[in-house]
Amino acid sequence: MKRKVGILISGRGSNMSALIEAAADPDYPADIALVLSNRPDAGGLDRAREAGLQTAVVDHKAYPDRASFDAAVDARLREAGVEIVCLAGFMRLLTPGFVEGWRNRMINIHPSLLPLFPGLHTHQRAIDAGMRLAGCTVHFVRPEMDTGPIIAQAAVPIAPNDTEETLSKRILSAEHRIYPLALALLAGNLLRVEGERAVIDGALPVDLSGMVAAPEFEG
Ligand code: GAR
Repeated sequence: MKRKVGILISGRGSNMSALIEAAADPDYPADIALVLSNRPDAGGLDRAREAGLQTAVVDHKAYPDRASFDAAVDARLREAGVEIVCLAGFMRLLTPGFVEGWRNRMINIHPSLLPLFPGLHTHQRAIDAGMRLAGCTVHFVRPEMDTGPIIAQAAVPIAPNDTEETLSKRILSAEHRIYPLALALLAGNLLRVEGERAVIDGALPVDLSGMVAAPEFEG
């Protein structure tokens, strides 16, 4: 049985698109039941509608506080029968109550090798720190921002002449590889959380090599 997934977005939704493409494979263990945005103008909503998916807008500006906004999001997800939540460029902090309600069933993608560089401006911060590698992480969501057991990571090199723009492009293509992989692990019941580590169980039906293979420098 495929697991029903809700994707939360705030913007262009390129990671959402990667998940939609993966879920189009009949063998993929998840179906996208709902795409929800807190911004009515999020570009990703059009892409989701084009793919024939159910969409919803819960505009945070219409709610007096975080708790009432989160309650409205939660209600929409449950109405749609969602079992797993994927945050894909969802730029709102979630309340501890909401996060705990989806414990080990909500995952996020972040453009750094966590626990390095939580928060914003990750690409510039990695360049400024003189890092030779950067990357991205998919992790279970915990109440504290950008923390939680790590499911998948990919590393990419930082070139001497990289800018925030060129590095974020390289990392984004790695994000599009590992997010579908991480969701396949979770939806396929191949993950167990032990302490605060996500352990991969069993024989893998998926290829994990994308996590460590650095893509070619372009140009
Ligand atoms: C992605 O790079 C994602 O990792 C990042 O926002 C971008 C959304 O792009 N998320 C965060 O920074 C969350 N802390 P997308 O809308 O094209 O997927």
